[in-house]
This record gives sequence, C-alpha cells and structure tokens, in this order.
Amino acid sequence: MSATVVVGLQYGDEGKGKIVDWLAEKYRVIVRYNGGPNAGHTVVNDRGEFKLHQVPSGIFNPEARCCLASGAVIDSVQLVRELEMLAGRGVATEGFGLSERAHVILPWHQLADRLSEASRGGKAIGTTGRGIGPCYADKVNRTGLSVAAAIEAGAEGLRQECDARVGQLARLYHGQDAFRTGDVQAQEMRHRAAEAYEALITLSLMDRVSDTDAVIRRAWKAGDPIMLEGAQGTMIDLNYGTYPYVSSSTSTAAGACIGSGLPPTAITRVIGVAKAYATRVGAGPFPTELTDASGDRLRALGKEFGTTTGRPRRCGWFDAADARYAAEVNGATEIVLTKLDVLSPFGTIRVATHRERDAAGDATYYEELPGWKTPIDGATSWSALPPAAKRYVARLEELIGVPITHVATGPGRQAIIER
Ligand code: IMP
Repeated sequence: MSATVVVGLQYGDEGKGKIVDWLAEKYRVIVRYNGGPNAGHTVVNDRGEFKLHQVPSGIFNPEARCCLASGAVIDSVQLVRELEMLAGRGVATEGFGLSERAHVILPWHQLADRLSEASRGGKAIGTTGRGIGPCYADKVNRTGLSVAAAIEAGAEGLRQECDARVGQLARLYHGQDAFRTGDVQAQEMRHRAAEAYEALITLSLMDRVSDTDAVIRRAWKAGDPIMLEGAQGTMIDLNYGTYPYVSSSTSTAAGACIGSGLPPTAITRVIGVAKAYATRVGAGPFPTELTDASGDRLRALGKEFGTTTGRPRRCGWFDAADARYAAEVNGATEIVLTKLDVLSPFGTIRVATHRERDAAGDATYYEELPGWKTPIDGATSWSALPPAAKRYVARLEELIGVPITHVATGPGRQAIIER
C-alpha cells in the first residue's frame, strides 16, 4: 500500500487539519512529520471544534495510529496538555505515539527565539516565539536533545544544560531587556526545564514514546494506508520558501520522507491544499497582499487570525504563480481548494496569474474574474455552486496545471465538495 502526503501550497493556514480529519477514516497510520507547536490546525467535526498544535489531526479516527515523527520538534509540556484536553473531551488518544528521535524544545530555545527576533529589529521574521528555529538549529549543529537523549540526561542533566545555555545567551545578548531580571530569569528557566523533563517522563510512562520510524515502515510493508500530514506551507519551507522569512523545517512533500523514515518510493499521492485566496502570518514577501479595505474584509469574512498566536493574518488575492511553483515542488497529484465560501460577497475577484522580472524587480500580473455574489456556505454538491464560482475554480486549475478535485465551503467535514 502506498502513502499519501497532505501538504500546504501557500504560507501555511491553508486548512490542512480539516482535510486530514476528513480523510482520516481511510488511513491506518497518520503521521505529522515536521514543525512543532508553531502549527495550529483547526478541526471541526461531530465532536466540536478543536485547535491542535502538535497531535496529528487524524487523532479523531480511533482506529488509526497517530505518530508525531522524527522530523518534528516537540514542546513536551504543551503536548501533555493537548493530549489531556483531547482525553477530557472524550477523544481516544491511545493510538498516539511520539518518536524518540524527535527533538525537544527547551526553555532556552524559546528564550533564544525571542532574543534573536528582538535583535533583528525591523528585519524580524515574526516567528511564533515557540523556539522552533533555535531547536532545529541545535539539531543541525548536533547540540540538540532528542526525546530519548533528554530522558537519558535526567532532570539534573537538563538543569545543568539549562544553566550553560542561559549563560551563553546572556553573554551573546548582553544588555537586552530579556536579561534585566538576571537570576530570577535563570531560576525560571531551570524550573521550566524541570517541567519539560517531567512532561517527557509522563509521556514515557504513558507508553507514548516509541520508535515511530519502525512502526511506520512496518505498517507500510504490511500494506496499511499511511497519511503524512504536513505542517506550515511550501512558501515558508526552509529550503523552497521565501528565505529567510520561513520556518525552520521541511514542510514540502520531500520532507515527509525525511521526517517519517519512509522511503521516497512509498509516496504515490500528494494532496496539495490551497486556500481560495492567500494569507500570511509574520513578515516576508507577499506579492498579492491587500493592505486596503478588501484585505480587512477578507480577514473578517475568513476569520483570519492565527490559531497559535492570535495575530491578524495578512490577506491577499490568490497567487497562481506561487501555487504553480508549490504544486511543482511538491509533485502535487491533486489539489483541495478551501474556504471558497469566503469569496462569495466580492463582486470582482482578482487572481495573480504570473510574474515578470523587470529592472525594478518582479512585477505581478493579475486578471479579474466575476464574483458570484451568492452565499455558498456549507454547499455540499458541485452542482449547487453558482456558475461564476465554478469558473473561478476551473480558472485556478488551469493556471496551476493540477486538477482541483475538491472544494471546501465551510468548516465541517460535510462541507467538502467532490468536483
Ligand atoms: P517559526 O516557525 O515560529 O520560526 O516562524 C517562522 C515563520 O513561519 C513566521 O512568519 C511564522 O508566522 C510562520 N509560521 C510558522 N508556523 C506557521 C503555521 O503553522 N502557519 C502559518 N505560519 C506559520
């Protein structure tokens, strides 16, 4: 049996969580392969609305094994809370497993994230402040701690590491606000390191820490259907996004192999998820951004506020040049277009078709398409959509060059239309 990757084609927040939740019943193993608690996946199903940050969105299928795999970085305290929240709301979490190879975000990573951002001034990336970059940097620098290594280090080992790391940061960022509190801060860091350790032990005692790579490969060899759930999106992928305004992991489909331990030959289907317009959180280039009233309107209609940080998302028109690029980088075999309903009130909808380089840089070219001006919220069949909505979808498909097989018109599972 083959593996399916679900990947974001824009700047994250495309609605991947919703799509994974909807597809989950067809899969036996569901794997989150990159990123950490910077992600915010909103899932609305018959059990209510859930905001997941680390647990795969496939968790609502009680038959599936859900892995937070080796390519992810984890906040153990938040992870325990997330599992408790799910259990408290009656969601079975026994199928959840955390890779012993995943790296642990420790309090000095979050501190380093804040200090690094502050020191960049006007060039700040606008990170989520969750310590993602510094944790991956440690991993690449071979100075990080995997789940297994952090457990082995023990509480005392982590405290010592904490003192050393906080000392390094104090020297590096000497004089910055974050260090005014001196000892109090070191004390607080030690306390949080101890909490992170306790949470790892809790996960271990719950039998949640395992060799997920082996579990995933075994399932693959046994012919079980596997879904690999990407976090973030192609345009904020470390290698293929708008560097340096990116996250620090590989969110693209190729990262699904690195992050899960599955070989590339296992992947036969890549579902690209794109929103019917574009949003971006944090700094960095955004050619189709609307800084006027239309942008505010999209934000209000689409409720475009970050799931993790609550920040207002920057909003803009659909960028088919980016989507074409993203579909190519990921080898998308099909596309699911989300939040089409949000565009309903617009009389005219613009789409960026291509870019051309001139002396002043890249110029973005647009075309205008007529809106449908009829609510389509929660429509459940393709035939129920107004002709202008169908034309909009068809035009995006033509511009991207990959079939748009499904369109979402609302937050629930039933509002996903097969075309
Ligand atoms: P970091 O991942 O916290 O280091 O943030 C780096 C950049 O990626 C910032 O612009 C964040 O806003 C953005 N980012 C990180 N995770 C997500 C996500 O899940 N959705 C959307 N943007 C994200």
